[in-house]
Amino acid sequence: MERVDTLMKHPLFRECRELIDRAEVNRIYCKHNLEHSLDVARIAYILNLEEQGALDKELIYAMALVHDLGRSEEYQNGKNHHIAGAEIAKQLLEASGFSAEEVHMICQAVAAHKSWSDEGLVKKVEEQEKVVDYCKKLLYRADKLSRNCYDCSASKTCYWDEKARNHQVLI
Ligand SMILES: [Fe+2]
Repeated sequence: MERVDTLMKHPLFRECRELIDRAEVNRIYCKHNLEHSLDVARIAYILNLEEQGALDKELIYAMALVHDLGRSEEYQNGKNHHIAGAEIAKQLLEASGFSAEEVHMICQAVAAHKSWSDEGLVKKVEEQEKVVDYCKKLLYRADKLSRNCYDCSASKTCYWDEKARNHQVLI
């Protein structure tokens, strides 16, 4: 996965990662660290295989690795992390050799990954718009499934409402 390796070595990626890790050092809720991003990547990859989603492995890993980088800006200046995340993702993906189509798909998914529901899963992807749609839903679902809300010591004060929490070990 040469392009993913390039992305992870990019100075902007390193800078965002360090900033987030420093800002969250005392956070008792879910962290947005590299471990979380890799959990999301692996879960999304499994879902994609199970559903014959046909998304490229490298695209899935790149999407998961960049999806929360916008938090770095949110911690610095209060900018919405979905918008900031899509902007950062665009820079990193273009610099790492991803095509314009792939950059578009990933940025759309990053910008929307908090607002998609689980309803109406797209099982088979055929057209470009369906692929983008599938990408958004895949990232949302993998992000949620990566959180072990059923075993969280901070659940009493977590801002996630009951419906948003993950109560099942699905993978
Ligand atoms: Fe996340």
